[in-house]
Amino acid sequence: MKAIMIAMAVMLGASAASAKTLVAYYSYTNNVERIVTELGAQIEADIIEIEPAEKGLDYAANNYALGTELLNAIRTNPDDASSYPAIDDVDIYMSQYDMVIIAAPLWWSQMAAPMQTFLFHYGPQMAGKNIGVIVSSASSGISGVVADAKRLIPGGNFIEPNLWIRSSQTANARSLVAAWLEDIHYSRLMSFSSLLFSSLLFINLS
Ligand SMILES: Cc1cc2nc3c(=O)[nH]c(=O)nc-3n(C[C@H](O)[C@H](O)[C@H](O)COP(=O)(O)O)c2cc1C
Repeated sequence: MKAIMIAMAVMLGASAASAKTLVAYYSYTNNVERIVTELGAQIEADIIEIEPAEKGLDYAANNYALGTELLNAIRTNPDDASSYPAIDDVDIYMSQYDMVIIAAPLWWSQMAAPMQTFLFHYGPQMAGKNIGVIVSSASSGISGVVADAKRLIPGGNFIEPNLWIRSSQTANARSLVAAWLEDIHYSRLMSFSSLLFSSLLFINLS
């Protein structure tokens, strides 16, 4: 009994330290970046920015012609790596994270193309992890972006609700993010992940 109590105390002590969150975001005109900055001030997380390999592109020029072209390529051949625009290399060790929060703009009711590239390559490694989705759009509803996330992270444990912040609401990101973290019971989710991790460790060690 004493051994069990000690083990539980160790497990609880370890809990705060072991659960980790990754925030991966892409932002073209900085609305998502501002949202992620607020998020980063409210939770402990590693944050990575996804950046297109080709710099200086204007996705909105000519009535969003380039953005449209990139999304059409993905839609036509979603299983082909060459359909996705190249992004800069990212340095992540995915297995250390319990939760991944994806933050991206909506483009033509879909997930912005560079974030889709990231998920095409890393989404399969997110199987079994809790997944949160944050989307910024001017006005369009975000169900298409969520569908893209689910297609690209087939084994993800998607935590509802998703957070949709319209570009006009970006200035209110701090309170919207705080309310969302409450809605998804973020603290409880992370404590539970930690406890699960510690329990598995204990079972393995005993
Ligand atoms: C190529 C492109 C397509 C877009 N399509 C839509 C759209 O269909 N509906 C919408 O509400 N907003 C659309 N937007 C606007 C963005 O979703 C919105 O400005 C968002 O806040 C951008 O986030 P960011 O500043 O982090 O890049 C589009 C923007 C771009 C660049």
